Amino acid sequence: MNGEVLLIGATGLLGSDVLLQLQSRGWTVDAPSRTVLDLEDPRSIDAYFLAARPAWVINCAAYTAVDAAESDESRANVLNSVAPFSLARFCKWIKARLLHISTDFVFDGNSNSPYKETDEARPLGLYGKSKFHGERLAFDENKEMIVARTAWLFGSNGKCFPRTILKAALEGRELRVVSDQIGNPSYTRDVAKALCNLVASDAVPGIYHVANRGQASWFELACETIRMAGIKSEVQAISTQDWPTPAPRPKYSVLDTSKYDSLGFEPMPDWQTGIARFVEDVLPQLKAETARQ
Ligand SMILES: NC(=O)c1ccc[n+]([C@@H]2O[C@H](COP(=O)([O-])OP(=O)(O)OC[C@H]3O[C@@H](n4cnc5c(N)ncnc54)[C@H](OP(=O)(O)O)[C@@H]3O)[C@@H](O)[C@H]2O)c1
Repeated sequence: MNGEVLLIGATGLLGSDVLLQLQSRGWTVDAPSRTVLDLEDPRSIDAYFLAARPAWVINCAAYTAVDAAESDESRANVLNSVAPFSLARFCKWIKARLLHISTDFVFDGNSNSPYKETDEARPLGLYGKSKFHGERLAFDENKEMIVARTAWLFGSNGKCFPRTILKAALEGRELRVVSDQIGNPSYTRDVAKALCNLVASDAVPGIYHVANRGQASWFELACETIRMAGIKSEVQAISTQDWPTPAPRPKYSVLDTSKYDSLGFEPMPDWQTGIARFVEDVLPQLKAETARQ
């Protein structure tokens, strides 16, 4: 990789591990804070790109509050649809390549087999719709870009489902978890590595599905998380109907990653390996926090 990488969203769950991965490869990175590059402010984007000349732009910034998006559509659209379009336009202009992150929630979940990149997207909620529009608007503008769709992220540097489960289990709270939604739990460290592989290899433009191997329900993910932590706690399986949320969720959003796998990089680990490493990383800190309460 020659040249600088601009990383947007470096403070987020995924972006923080992408930053570490980029730095571990010795690449030159600019990771501006939101005060320097605010994707909700077109003047901020204009001003940034007037001066910057990165070789690659990785966009991990997004409006990710799936339920809040149902009542905050315009902000979700600005960040997830309009901003990727602007980035695609600027990248074309300065001849940088763009790697934009998207989601399994672009699918409606009616499939029985893992979704390929070529499968029709039909998002259910406003978050998924805004992400899908962002993909399309950006691609229409810039045919050289890459969209990497990932799923069900967990990582050490932010809020995520396994962290919530661990905390609740350590506090002895009752655990009731949905067992009829299936996806690919994915560790941000593994996804970050895969994203940097795409950049390093100057991958062919297009969509790539990037996730850990295997699939699980939220219930299975919760059980494995507390098993790995050695916590004795009951988890009760419930249905989606028992846990109503403002945003509808796909009941099956497993991504077929064979396109990424065929590129010949080290295979993605399975999600259980990811959870084991995640638990090892965060458990001491969570135990200390719980003890202080
Ligand atoms: N989390 C998941 O389970 C999941 C699953 C599938 C796909 N994805 C996709 O993966 C990507 C990363 O998600 P994530 O969970 O890591 O996100 P996240 O933790 O919510 O982080 C979002 C990032 O976006 C930044 N951001 C928000 N508004 C901004 C603005 N106006 N200007 C510039 N930056 C702004 C945030 O910066 P501040 O620190 O300043 O707020 C933060 O760095 C997203 O594209 C998401 O759609 C996530």
